Amino acid sequence: MSGEPIAAGPLAEEMARLGWQMTWLGGAVFVLVVVLLVVGAFRKPKDGTDRNRIMRNWVVGGGVILPVLLVSAVFVLTLIAMRATSLEASDEAVAIEVVGNQWWWEVSYPDDGIVTANEIHLPVGRPVELRLTSDDVIHSFWIPELGGKIDMLPEDVNTFVIQADEAGVFDGACAEFCGLQHARMRFVAVAGTDDEYRDWLENEATEAVEPQAEQTRRGLEVFTNQGCGDCHTIRGTDAGGQEGPDLTHVAGRRTLGAGTLEHTPENLREWISDPHQFKDGVAMPAFDLSDEAMDALVAYLESLE
Ligand code: CUA
Repeated sequence: MSGEPIAAGPLAEEMARLGWQMTWLGGAVFVLVVVLLVVGAFRKPKDGTDRNRIMRNWVVGGGVILPVLLVSAVFVLTLIAMRATSLEASDEAVAIEVVGNQWWWEVSYPDDGIVTANEIHLPVGRPVELRLTSDDVIHSFWIPELGGKIDMLPEDVNTFVIQADEAGVFDGACAEFCGLQHARMRFVAVAGTDDEYRDWLENEATEAVEPQAEQTRRGLEVFTNQGCGDCHTIRGTDAGGQEGPDLTHVAGRRTLGAGTLEHTPENLREWISDPHQFKDGVAMPAFDLSDEAMDALVAYLESLE
């Protein structure tokens, strides 16, 4: 979805720096060992050398002194990175709560009364305080290009602060094995300008538009009759289910099934008719609808901008 992997925020930059520092140190040690091995293999000792003394020197130098120096260096570099990555949430930080579920993400903005799913929107250049927890098993929240990665625990709230310094759409994933569809527990983080972010917030905060056209009205009827509202919420309608993702503004989301499918009307149709063909084990049941009912349902959901 996004382009080349980049470090798009201070956290990710630090992590990348530390990663490269350790790679270069490890690489240097590797080259040194290979050179010494080759020299040792081909050099003939002079007559009268004290082999035991030479051996002792190598054991002490290469087995004690060098590792202590290197490990100390890595320790210091790690401390520096840890310091730099412990961002503090300032007053201007945006608070976002994310709850891990098998296998999707509930995302809410408590200051604005917004609940959405599988997509995190954030303003560029401002710290975002993430409050992470889980509704079932242990998950782990990770956006590689923005840094971090922290466990989401069922009975605890872990917080950390990230920041995007560049606009873009960044892939996020669950990084802790959490069952059958762990690999399809994805999300996207959308970093935009302050204006873009505010527009998004304003739109998300509104209730779903009342369907006007005949087909979308019929779609809401299908949604209600099929019991979709037992699991899904659409604010502004009677649907208030808490089991599955909030669908109030589902039409604006980029993916279906937490990153399983690109969001197109055709894929939405396929997903509703049998989600298990794409994501086995998912809680949502298959719906065997007539073409007319399915067309109406898809048209209605796609009207929820
Ligand atoms: Cu959630 Cu892996």
